[in-house]
Amino acid sequence: MKRKEISHTEHFPLVMDAMTSRGLLLAAYTPDGRANAMTLGWCMLGGVWSMPICIVLVRPSRYTCECIEQAGCFTVNVAGADLDEACLLCGTKSGRDGDKLAEAGLTVEKAETVEAPVIAECPIVYECKVVHRNNILPPELADELQRWYADGDYHHIFFGKILAARAAQDAAELLGS
Ligand SMILES: Cc1cc2nc3c(=O)[nH]c(=O)nc-3n(C[C@H](O)[C@H](O)[C@H](O)COP(=O)(O)O)c2cc1C
Repeated sequence: MKRKEISHTEHFPLVMDAMTSRGLLLAAYTPDGRANAMTLGWCMLGGVWSMPICIVLVRPSRYTCECIEQAGCFTVNVAGADLDEACLLCGTKSGRDGDKLAEAGLTVEKAETVEAPVIAECPIVYECKVVHRNNILPPELADELQRWYADGDYHHIFFGKILAARAAQDAAELLGS
C-alpha cells in the first residue's frame, strides 16, 4: 500500500479506536527469518527522551516476544475493519505453529528504516527500533492488577523509537472514520 510520512501523533484517535476494537498488528521477523505478527491491545504512542516512542506490552509466552528480543525492532500496523477476522486469527494463533499471516490472507512489505515486516493491507504503520526494555515487576504491581498475571506471564515492555510513521492518503476512510 502506498503511504506517506506522517507525524506519529497524526490520526491518534483513529489508531486508539482500532486498538480498542480489533487490536493493532505487532510484526517482527522470527529468528529464522519468517514474518510474523500478533494482535496487540496494550500499546502507547507518545514521547520519551525527547523522541517519538511507541511502547508495547508483550507477554513472554508470545513467540513475538522472542522475535522482538532477537531482532531489536518491530512494526506496529493499524488495521481497518475489513481485517477484523485477520486480527482475531493473529491474536489467537501462534507463529510458532505455522504461517498465520498467510492463513489470515495478509501479505508483507519491507519496512523502510528497520529489519521488520510491514503488513501491506494496513493503512498506517509505525517502524520502531527497540531503545529500552524492561519487565512488569510483580512486587511493584497494585493489588487490583494482580488478576492479570495469575499464570505468572508478566509482560515484557519494549520501548520503540519511532523511526518512521506512514499513512495511506485515505487512511481515515479505510479505518472507518
Ligand atoms: C484483541 C487482542 C489483543 C491482544 N493484545 C495483546 C497484548 O497487548 N499483549 C500480548 O502479549 N498479547 C496480546 N494478545 C494475545 C496475542 O495476540 C496472542 O497470544 C497471539 O496468538 C500471540 O502470537 P505469537 O505467539 O505468534 O506471538 C491479544 C489478543 C487479542 C485477540
